[in-house]
Amino acid sequence: MSSGPPHDLTVIVLAAGGGTRMRSKTMKVLHPICGRSMIGHVLNAVRAMEPQRVVAVVGNQREQVAPHILELAPEVALAVQETQSGTGHAVRVAMETVGSITGTVVVAYGDTPLLRGESLRAFAAEHEAAQRAVSILSGVVDEPFGYGRVVRNDEGDVEAIVEEKDASDDQRTIREINSGILAFDAAFLIEALPRLSNDNANGEYYLTDTVQLARDAGLTVGAFAIDDVVQTEGVNDRVQLAALGRELNARIVTGWMRSGITVMDPATTWIDADVVLAQDVTILPGTQLLGATVVGEDAVIGPDSTLKDCEVGAGARVVRTHAELAVIGDEANVGPFSYLRPGTKLGRGGKIGGFVETKNAVIGEGAKVPHLSYVGDAEIGEGANIGAGTIFANYDGVAKHRTTIGRHARTASNNTFVAPVEIGDGAATGAGTVVRRDVPAGALAVSSGPQRNLEGWAESKRAGTAQAQAAAAARAGATSAESHASQDDDPEVGPSGSGGTES
Ligand code: UD1
Ligand code: MG
Repeated sequence: MSSGPPHDLTVIVLAAGGGTRMRSKTMKVLHPICGRSMIGHVLNAVRAMEPQRVVAVVGNQREQVAPHILELAPEVALAVQETQSGTGHAVRVAMETVGSITGTVVVAYGDTPLLRGESLRAFAAEHEAAQRAVSILSGVVDEPFGYGRVVRNDEGDVEAIVEEKDASDDQRTIREINSGILAFDAAFLIEALPRLSNDNANGEYYLTDTVQLARDAGLTVGAFAIDDVVQTEGVNDRVQLAALGRELNARIVTGWMRSGITVMDPATTWIDADVVLAQDVTILPGTQLLGATVVGEDAVIGPDSTLKDCEVGAGARVVRTHAELAVIGDEANVGPFSYLRPGTKLGRGGKIGGFVETKNAVIGEGAKVPHLSYVGDAEIGEGANIGAGTIFANYDGVAKHRTTIGRHARTASNNTFVAPVEIGDGAATGAGTVVRRDVPAGALAVSSGPQRNLEGWAESKRAGTAQAQAAAAARAGATSAESHASQDDDPEVGPSGSGGTES
């Protein structure tokens, strides 16, 4: 347990390294895990320590990293390390940026996305309570290869950190490693940094050599082993990026289940760090809840759905849907196979059904777009019903225009609304209508002419085909039947009646 934030604390975050093993145009610490950049996770953990100042050391690709850091945490001071001459050099550059300071200095890396604020707080508190010159956040691992090893004497006191390349065969068997996170007494650090040498296998100024310097000066050093070593693991390549991403996701999903969310298949459920879920939400397999998505009580999401930066209301049902920057009202129904693009706002109890794409569309309370439609730049009033296969033709080749559909309007199947156009409250349309002019409230709009049947067309124009044969056979049968029963000769001319669809 931490004893509250330390009084005088400076945190230095190192992020100047090249990250070449990522083989990426994007700087390593900017790669996202669970919806946040790696350095974003670290800055979050650092913020939880309530430090007096934070310094980030940038170097490689700093034109990408610096603006990103300042966007997330404008309070951070940036220090530029022109050439990456080692962690000791990087911290020296940071200390030169802040000038003379006292208290505690904690050094962390920008590429450890699972690091938690409470771990950092506990570490700093322990360091201060023990009044050490240097404290190491260490961990015991099965495969220590590549890490600096924590070398202890026969009494168990920490003597030094020895880097992999500089270690003896005996030292390489040590499984207690330096996580990289160190805490210093500021006065000691200021005095020790200029005394580091680069006389080692890497030709770098190692920050870890401060341990030996403190020991030689008779100062206290110590290591604080973290049980949950994964928190200090860094990402070097994309294999580790995926592994730590999976681990962080598993932790997030487990956390939500413990707080009252049903997750049917944690292995195929992805929840970003900033997502917020209300009690009794159910998440079905193959679902990704991304960005700043918020889901209300009792909503059921999935299977196979991706929601990014969406707001889903209480009791809503979202099935096999891809949605971004959309708002889905309480008790609303979406899917299956729906595509909600930015600016979609579905009202309470409304419906966006199968194979419907929406964009910049405000669909009122209880309004329905149940089947096979494109709804772009539209406003649909409450209780309205849009027929199957309707296209909101929002683009005239130059500019986008809006369509407005009134409250409780009933539009029939296979309509095209040529925007800008307005359909009044309680108005209706016939099947196949192309609406180019406004429809007054309560009116029925019809644009297709009366149906004409050209008798015998198939036999005369498609003679010799299977189509013509089928037609001939049917007509022969009909003729013989005609002598038994009289024909109902009242073709429906009106476009209304069964022209619409509703689910
Ligand atoms: C470092 C530690 C090692 C520890 C390991 C944990 C040293 C000498 N070694 O080794 O004991 O077990 O981390 O992962 O400290 N950086 C800069 N500028 C530089 C060099 C590095 O900003 O000039 C940054 C890197 O971007 C990275 C961090 O410091 O975030 C660590 O550097 P890296 O080269 O990965 O050190 P390791 O050899 O892994
Ligand atoms: Mg490293």
